[in-house]
Amino acid sequence: MIEKKLETALEYIRQKTDFIPDVAVTLGSGLGGFADEVEHASFIDYCDIPGMPVSTAPGHKGRFVFGKIAGVKVAVMQGRLHYYEGHDIADTVMPLRLLRKMGAKFLILTNAAGGINPDFEAGDFMLVDDHISFFVPSPLRGKNPDSLGVRFPDMSNVYDKDLRRLADAVAKRNGITLKHGILVQTAGPNFETPAEIRFLRTIGADAVGMSTVIEAMAACHCNFRTLTLTCISNLAAGVTDDPLSLEEVMVMAKQKAPQFRTLLHDLIGAIKVHNSK
Ligand code: HPA
Repeated sequence: MIEKKLETALEYIRQKTDFIPDVAVTLGSGLGGFADEVEHASFIDYCDIPGMPVSTAPGHKGRFVFGKIAGVKVAVMQGRLHYYEGHDIADTVMPLRLLRKMGAKFLILTNAAGGINPDFEAGDFMLVDDHISFFVPSPLRGKNPDSLGVRFPDMSNVYDKDLRRLADAVAKRNGITLKHGILVQTAGPNFETPAEIRFLRTIGADAVGMSTVIEAMAACHCNFRTLTLTCISNLAAGVTDDPLSLEEVMVMAKQKAPQFRTLLHDLIGAIKVHNSK
Protein backbone atom coordinates (compact mmCIF):
# COMPACT_ATOMS: atom_id res chain seq x y z
CA MET A 1 0.00 0.00 0.00
CA ILE A 2 2.73 2.49 1.05
CA GLU A 3 5.02 1.23 -1.75
CA LYS A 4 2.26 1.62 -4.34
CA LYS A 5 1.36 5.09 -3.07
CA LEU A 6 5.00 6.21 -3.23
CA GLU A 7 5.40 4.74 -6.71
CA THR A 8 2.33 6.57 -8.06
CA ALA A 9 3.42 9.86 -6.47
CA LEU A 10 6.96 9.47 -7.77
CA GLU A 11 5.68 8.75 -11.28
CA TYR A 12 3.74 12.04 -11.17
CA ILE A 13 6.82 13.97 -9.96
CA ARG A 14 8.99 12.37 -12.63
CA GLN A 15 6.54 13.53 -15.32
CA LYS A 16 7.19 17.10 -14.09
CA THR A 17 10.93 17.05 -13.35
CA ASP A 18 14.09 14.92 -13.66
CA PHE A 19 15.72 16.86 -10.81
CA ILE A 20 17.93 14.79 -8.48
CA PRO A 21 18.40 16.59 -5.14
CA ASP A 22 21.45 16.09 -2.91
CA VAL A 23 20.07 17.68 0.23
CA ALA A 24 16.46 17.64 1.43
CA VAL A 25 15.32 20.29 3.92
CA THR A 26 12.13 20.50 6.00
CA LEU A 27 11.17 23.99 7.12
CA GLY A 28 9.56 24.40 10.52
CA SER A 29 7.17 27.03 11.88
CA GLY A 30 8.21 30.58 11.00
CA LEU A 31 10.98 29.39 8.68
CA GLY A 32 9.04 29.03 5.43
CA GLY A 33 10.78 32.18 4.10
CA PHE A 34 14.01 30.21 3.68
CA ALA A 35 12.52 28.76 0.50
CA ASP A 36 12.96 32.25 -1.08
CA GLU A 37 16.71 31.59 -1.08
CA VAL A 38 16.37 28.69 -3.50
CA GLU A 39 17.81 29.72 -6.87
CA HIS A 40 16.29 28.60 -10.18
CA ALA A 41 13.34 27.37 -8.14
CA SER A 42 10.62 25.12 -9.48
CA PHE A 43 7.63 24.03 -7.42
CA ILE A 44 5.29 21.09 -7.04
CA ASP A 45 2.29 21.61 -4.76
CA TYR A 46 1.48 18.66 -2.50
CA CYS A 47 -2.18 18.93 -3.49
CA ASP A 48 -1.27 18.07 -7.12
CA ILE A 49 0.60 14.87 -6.18
CA PRO A 50 -1.67 11.80 -6.21
CA GLY A 51 -2.12 10.31 -2.72
CA MET A 52 -0.21 13.10 -1.00
CA PRO A 53 -1.79 14.50 2.18
CA VAL A 54 -2.14 18.28 2.31
CA SER A 55 -0.75 20.44 5.12
CA THR A 56 -3.32 22.46 7.08
CA ALA A 57 -1.04 23.89 9.81
CA PRO A 58 -0.79 27.69 10.02
CA GLY A 59 2.22 29.08 8.12
CA HIS A 60 2.86 25.79 6.30
CA LYS A 61 2.46 26.08 2.54
CA GLY A 62 2.61 22.44 1.49
CA ARG A 63 4.86 22.18 -1.54
CA PHE A 64 8.25 20.98 -2.76
CA VAL A 65 10.72 23.63 -3.92
CA PHE A 66 13.51 22.29 -6.13
CA GLY A 67 16.62 24.32 -7.00
CA LYS A 68 20.04 25.32 -5.66
CA ILE A 69 21.34 26.81 -2.42
CA ALA A 70 25.07 27.57 -2.05
CA GLY A 71 25.62 25.68 -5.30
CA VAL A 72 23.99 22.52 -3.90
CA LYS A 73 20.93 20.83 -5.41
CA VAL A 74 18.26 21.02 -2.76
CA ALA A 75 14.66 19.93 -2.36
CA VAL A 76 12.88 22.00 0.25
CA MET A 77 9.70 20.80 1.93
CA GLN A 78 7.95 24.10 2.51
CA GLY A 79 5.40 23.14 5.10
CA ARG A 80 5.24 19.87 6.95
CA LEU A 81 2.47 17.42 7.77
CA HIS A 82 1.80 17.16 11.48
CA TYR A 83 0.32 14.13 13.19
CA TYR A 84 -2.03 16.47 15.12
CA GLU A 85 -3.69 17.49 11.85
CA GLY A 86 -5.21 14.02 11.82
CA HIS A 87 -3.03 12.44 9.14
CA ASP A 88 -2.20 8.79 9.30
CA ILE A 89 1.23 8.61 10.97
CA ALA A 90 2.86 7.01 7.88
CA ASP A 91 1.44 9.78 5.67
CA THR A 92 3.28 12.46 7.66
CA VAL A 93 6.62 11.08 6.41
CA MET A 94 5.57 10.58 2.79
CA PRO A 95 7.26 13.79 1.51
CA LEU A 96 10.69 12.88 2.86
CA ARG A 97 10.36 9.31 1.60
CA LEU A 98 9.61 10.69 -1.86
CA LEU A 99 12.70 12.89 -1.76
CA ARG A 100 14.80 9.90 -0.74
CA LYS A 101 13.37 7.99 -3.70
CA MET A 102 14.27 10.99 -5.92
CA GLY A 103 17.89 10.54 -4.84
CA ALA A 104 18.46 12.90 -1.88
CA LYS A 105 21.08 11.57 0.56
CA PHE A 106 21.11 14.23 3.27
CA LEU A 107 18.17 15.53 5.28
CA ILE A 108 18.10 18.68 7.38
CA LEU A 109 15.05 18.94 9.64
CA THR A 110 14.18 22.22 11.33
CA ASN A 111 11.53 22.98 13.92
CA ALA A 112 10.42 25.18 16.76
CA ALA A 113 10.22 23.62 20.23
CA GLY A 114 9.66 24.47 23.86
CA GLY A 115 12.74 24.58 26.11
CA ILE A 116 12.69 22.15 29.05
CA ASN A 117 16.35 22.32 30.05
CA PRO A 118 16.64 25.08 32.70
CA ASP A 119 19.83 26.33 31.02
CA PHE A 120 17.91 27.14 27.82
CA GLU A 121 16.44 30.52 26.92
CA ALA A 122 13.81 31.40 24.36
CA GLY A 123 15.63 32.18 21.12
CA ASP A 124 18.39 29.58 21.63
CA PHE A 125 19.31 27.12 18.89
CA MET A 126 19.63 23.44 19.76
CA LEU A 127 21.28 20.74 17.71
CA VAL A 128 19.46 17.47 18.31
CA ASP A 129 21.82 14.70 19.50
CA ASP A 130 19.10 12.12 20.11
CA HIS A 131 15.37 11.87 20.68
CA ILE A 132 12.49 10.29 22.61
CA SER A 133 9.53 9.17 20.52
CA PHE A 134 7.42 7.17 23.00
CA PHE A 135 4.46 9.57 23.00
CA VAL A 136 3.61 9.18 19.31
CA PRO A 137 3.15 6.02 17.25
CA SER A 138 6.05 4.94 15.07
CA PRO A 139 5.78 6.19 11.46
CA LEU A 140 7.09 2.73 10.51
CA ARG A 141 3.90 1.00 11.73
CA GLY A 142 2.17 -1.24 9.21
CA LYS A 143 3.54 -3.25 6.33
CA ASN A 144 7.23 -2.47 5.88
CA PRO A 145 8.15 -0.77 2.59
CA ASP A 146 11.10 -3.09 1.93
CA SER A 147 12.39 -0.92 -0.93
CA LEU A 148 13.09 1.83 1.64
CA GLY A 149 14.52 -0.01 4.63
CA VAL A 150 14.44 -2.94 7.00
CA ARG A 151 11.53 -4.03 9.24
CA PHE A 152 13.41 -3.47 12.53
CA PRO A 153 15.78 -0.53 11.99
CA ASP A 154 18.52 0.32 14.47
CA MET A 155 18.03 3.79 16.01
CA SER A 156 21.44 4.10 17.72
CA ASN A 157 22.70 6.75 15.30
CA VAL A 158 19.72 8.68 13.95
CA TYR A 159 21.63 12.00 13.87
CA ASP A 160 24.75 11.88 11.70
CA LYS A 161 27.91 12.62 13.75
CA ASP A 162 29.78 14.22 10.83
CA LEU A 163 26.88 16.55 10.07
CA ARG A 164 26.63 17.56 13.73
CA ARG A 165 30.34 18.37 13.77
CA LEU A 166 29.89 20.43 10.60
CA ALA A 167 26.93 22.28 12.14
CA ASP A 168 28.98 23.14 15.24
CA ALA A 169 31.78 24.49 13.03
CA VAL A 170 29.37 26.53 10.86
CA ALA A 171 27.69 28.01 13.96
CA LYS A 172 31.04 28.93 15.50
CA ARG A 173 32.20 30.60 12.28
CA ASN A 174 29.04 32.73 12.31
CA GLY A 175 29.24 33.59 16.02
CA ILE A 176 26.00 31.68 16.73
CA THR A 177 25.74 29.66 19.95
CA LEU A 178 24.47 26.16 19.29
CA LYS A 179 23.31 24.19 22.30
CA HIS A 180 22.92 20.42 22.16
CA GLY A 181 20.16 18.26 23.51
CA ILE A 182 17.46 15.61 23.37
CA LEU A 183 14.19 16.35 21.57
CA VAL A 184 10.94 14.69 22.59
CA GLN A 185 7.85 14.69 20.37
CA THR A 186 4.34 14.83 21.77
CA ALA A 187 1.19 14.29 19.72
CA GLY A 188 -0.18 17.83 20.17
CA PRO A 189 -2.00 20.00 19.24
CA ASN A 190 -2.33 21.09 22.88
CA PHE A 191 0.76 22.32 24.68
CA GLU A 192 1.85 20.28 27.70
CA THR A 193 0.92 20.77 31.36
CA PRO A 194 3.64 21.80 33.85
CA ALA A 195 3.44 18.30 35.39
CA GLU A 196 4.03 16.72 31.98
CA ILE A 197 7.04 18.98 31.43
CA ARG A 198 8.51 17.99 34.82
CA PHE A 199 8.04 14.35 33.77
CA LEU A 200 9.70 14.95 30.39
CA ARG A 201 12.66 16.64 32.12
CA THR A 202 13.00 13.64 34.45
CA ILE A 203 13.20 11.22 31.53
CA GLY A 204 15.99 13.26 29.92
CA ALA A 205 14.36 15.61 27.40
CA ASP A 206 15.79 19.08 26.78
CA ALA A 207 13.14 20.35 24.36
CA VAL A 208 9.62 19.37 23.31
CA GLY A 209 7.90 19.72 19.95
CA MET A 210 4.94 18.38 18.00
CA SER A 211 6.88 17.20 14.95
CA THR A 212 10.28 16.20 13.62
CA VAL A 213 11.13 13.12 15.73
CA ILE A 214 8.91 10.85 13.63
CA GLU A 215 10.48 12.32 10.48
CA ALA A 216 13.95 11.57 11.81
CA MET A 217 12.84 7.97 12.51
CA ALA A 218 11.54 7.51 8.95
CA ALA A 219 14.73 9.15 7.65
CA CYS A 220 16.86 6.71 9.65
CA HIS A 221 14.79 3.82 8.27
CA CYS A 222 15.47 4.86 4.65
CA ASN A 223 19.13 5.62 5.31
CA PHE A 224 19.16 9.41 5.08
CA ARG A 225 22.09 11.16 6.75
CA THR A 226 20.07 13.41 9.06
CA LEU A 227 20.60 16.58 11.05
CA THR A 228 17.95 18.36 13.16
CA LEU A 229 18.18 22.02 14.11
CA THR A 230 15.69 23.31 16.67
CA CYS A 231 14.79 26.87 17.53
CA ILE A 232 13.74 27.14 21.18
CA SER A 233 10.77 29.37 20.49
CA ASN A 234 9.52 29.49 24.09
CA LEU A 235 10.17 28.01 27.50
CA ALA A 236 7.92 24.99 28.06
CA ALA A 237 4.85 25.06 30.34
CA GLY A 238 5.69 25.68 33.98
CA VAL A 239 9.33 26.59 33.22
CA THR A 240 7.92 30.13 33.30
CA ASP A 241 4.47 31.22 34.42
CA ASP A 242 3.67 32.72 31.01
CA PRO A 243 0.77 31.08 29.13
CA LEU A 244 1.81 29.45 25.83
CA SER A 245 0.43 30.34 22.44
CA LEU A 246 1.09 29.74 18.77
CA GLU A 247 1.59 33.50 18.37
CA GLU A 248 4.51 33.45 20.80
CA VAL A 249 6.09 30.50 18.95
CA MET A 250 5.72 32.23 15.57
CA VAL A 251 7.02 35.62 16.78
CA MET A 252 10.20 34.08 18.22
CA ALA A 253 10.71 31.72 15.24
CA LYS A 254 10.37 34.69 12.85
CA GLN A 255 12.70 36.82 14.99
CA LYS A 256 15.37 34.11 14.85
CA ALA A 257 14.78 33.33 11.16
CA PRO A 258 17.71 35.44 9.82
CA GLN A 259 20.25 33.55 11.99
CA PHE A 260 18.53 30.26 11.20
CA ARG A 261 18.80 31.05 7.47
CA THR A 262 22.52 31.81 7.78
CA LEU A 263 23.10 28.54 9.63
CA LEU A 264 21.14 26.52 7.08
CA HIS A 265 22.68 28.21 4.05
CA ASP A 266 26.26 27.76 5.25
CA LEU A 267 25.60 24.24 6.45
CA ILE A 268 24.28 23.20 3.03
CA GLY A 269 27.40 24.71 1.42
CA ALA A 270 29.61 22.93 3.95
CA ILE A 271 27.96 19.57 3.26
CA LYS A 272 28.96 19.91 -0.38
CA VAL A 273 32.58 20.84 0.38
CA HIS A 274 32.92 18.16 3.06
CA ASN A 275 31.58 15.40 0.85
CA SER A 276 33.50 16.30 -2.28
CA LYS A 277 36.85 15.88 -0.46
N1 HPA B 1 5.49 22.37 23.34
C1 HPA B 1 5.26 21.59 22.27
N2 HPA B 1 5.54 21.98 21.03
C2 HPA B 1 6.08 23.20 20.84
C3 HPA B 1 6.33 24.06 21.92
C4 HPA B 1 6.02 23.63 23.24
O1 HPA B 1 6.23 24.33 24.24
N3 HPA B 1 6.87 25.21 21.39
C5 HPA B 1 6.92 25.02 20.04
N4 HPA B 1 6.44 23.80 19.71
